[in-house]
Amino acid sequence: SVRPLTDRFGRVHDSVRISVTDRCNIRCFYCMPEFGAQFVDKDRLLTFEEIHRLASLLVTQAGVRDIRITGGEPLVRRDLPKLIAMLAGIDGLEDISLTSNGILMADQAADLRAAGLRRVNISLDTLDVDVFRKITRRDGLDKTIAGIDAAITAGFDSVKLNALAIAGVTETEVERLIRFAIDRGVTLRFIEFMPLDADRSWTAERVLSGDELIAIIRDSFGDVEPIPRDHPSQPAEEFVVRGGRVGIIRSVTHPFCGDCNRIRITADGGIRNCLFASTETAIRDRMRSGASEDELLQTVRQCVMEKAAAHGIDEAGFRPPDRPMYSIGG
Ligand code: GTP
Ligand code: 5AD
Ligand code: SF4
Repeated sequence: SVRPLTDRFGRVHDSVRISVTDRCNIRCFYCMPEFGAQFVDKDRLLTFEEIHRLASLLVTQAGVRDIRITGGEPLVRRDLPKLIAMLAGIDGLEDISLTSNGILMADQAADLRAAGLRRVNISLDTLDVDVFRKITRRDGLDKTIAGIDAAITAGFDSVKLNALAIAGVTETEVERLIRFAIDRGVTLRFIEFMPLDADRSWTAERVLSGDELIAIIRDSFGDVEPIPRDHPSQPAEEFVVRGGRVGIIRSVTHPFCGDCNRIRITADGGIRNCLFASTETAIRDRMRSGASEDELLQTVRQCVMEKAAAHGIDEAGFRPPDRPMYSIGG
């Protein structure tokens, strides 16, 4: 029988974000360090069989409905379409999506679609080659754009673009990014920069807020019309802008923790009840030492019970998590 993953505050967790690798082919400053990132050894990564076992358990016994695959960059994990096909076979799973930087998407989009992946979100912070290099410390804008176009061609149920909103970087990119998205008929979401960067260079001043973004968008495109949220747990607020859809994810200035429905599984098999959780529940070694389904489920339930009410970024004494974004999974 199904018993949902409910926490102390009554939030029901029916969405799981699974990181399949902490490695990445670029080095965005808001996530990774430029040099010396510490990656998990291969034998400490959850295998596809382990991911499938956990996912099946959560779907069939804990009411999980959707899974999002994240990284690092998920497409650098070998044979990812194979995992997607395994997950797509889980009875009761309604949605499988993926968040990627797009660089390898042109090679894999068709296979991922055929394997049963439904939706993809691709990061695109700029359309300027020099700004791209400054943000990512690598080249790759052409490949990213080719990846976006390949994803659109592959016929996913939805393709969305994610742009980090960083003060001093994003202001000049907003108009071009929106035009690019409108031309292709895809939704573009701006995401407030959160204190999850490996360099710990985040400050509140570096967040380009949703309010500031809306002011910039109005300057370029005139009035914007809000679209009601489909689900309260959806992080993005969306607007119609010149017939296109633009979203804003105000994780810093308007946290949505009260409606959070997510848990995370790190590439090395840690259950995290929040992006900003200060502790994590290791489940890999329990799986490898013969834990039963009931014991595994109990471990996840316990972790959900320990979830804090909110991230508290704006509170005194806030400490960013020990793991930066690439190592948690987006
Ligand atoms: P859909 O709405 O299903 O398309 O997915 P999504 O927006 O949840 O997924 P995506 O991976 O594209 O997330 C975009 C960004 O939103 C992430 O990179 C985070 O910056 C932010 N985000 C996603 N989930 C959470 C969350 O649970 N808490 C917070 N604070 N931010 C989140
Ligand atoms: N703050 C907000 N979002 C971030 N992402 C990476 N680092 C941060 C951060 N510090 C987002 C990327 C991508 C997803 C994987 O995570 O933009 O959309
Ligand atoms: Fe959920 Fe934590 Fe994100 Fe808040 S910060 S929405 S509680 S994952």
